[in-house]
Amino acid sequence: MPKDFAVAVLISGRGSNLKALIDSAENYRISAVLSNNPEAGGLALARQASIPAIAFDRGDFPALGGLKERIRAECKAFAPDLIALAGFMQIIQPEFADEFTGRMVNIHPALLPKFPGLHTHSRALAAGESVHGCTVHFVDAGVDTGPVIAQARCPVMPGDDEERLAARVLELEHRLYPWVVNQIAGGGIKLHQGRAAFSPAALKEAGNLSFSTPNP
Ligand code: GRF
Repeated sequence: MPKDFAVAVLISGRGSNLKALIDSAENYRISAVLSNNPEAGGLALARQASIPAIAFDRGDFPALGGLKERIRAECKAFAPDLIALAGFMQIIQPEFADEFTGRMVNIHPALLPKFPGLHTHSRALAAGESVHGCTVHFVDAGVDTGPVIAQARCPVMPGDDEERLAARVLELEHRLYPWVVNQIAGGGIKLHQGRAAFSPAALKEAGNLSFSTPNP
């Protein structure tokens, strides 16, 4: 399997999805972790796994644009085959997204196109949703708008609060994200004509794992 498939992961916080990506890497290796937050817990997780981890401090840059450009440049210096955003709380510059079309993915804690943006769990509860979940999608120039790759669903239970629902979704995230990244690295999923295209084997496996896909 092409273990030389290099993935750069961008984080801002605790890094539980990063940990899942590290632990479940089969077809890829994580070559770098970059953060826009020096306090991000995920930095320690990366270093424990001997992955180069670099953090930048907003205070060192007069303008947010400078910080964004620096992260973009540092990320590119690792020549990643794929960039995985994992709780990266910063809007990607459109030029960066364009440059990595089909090679940048994100995990979002809702069933897109429902609930893009923040506070997805409280919004799902307030909307009275009976089903919630998470989405992995290719990144485009919009916020949480890129082509959906796969989704995992869970019920919203009576008595759920934000914390309980978030924990249920997070378990799904930790299964879905590494699966998608392994598939992309192994050639089972790619962006084709603006949509996520699956090999027959990847499509079958998604079904076996109860992941839904945009494919017929
Ligand atoms: C996850 O819920 C992810 O979907 C969202 O931000 C959260 C990051 O959590 N984009 P972690 O840092 O991976 O633990």
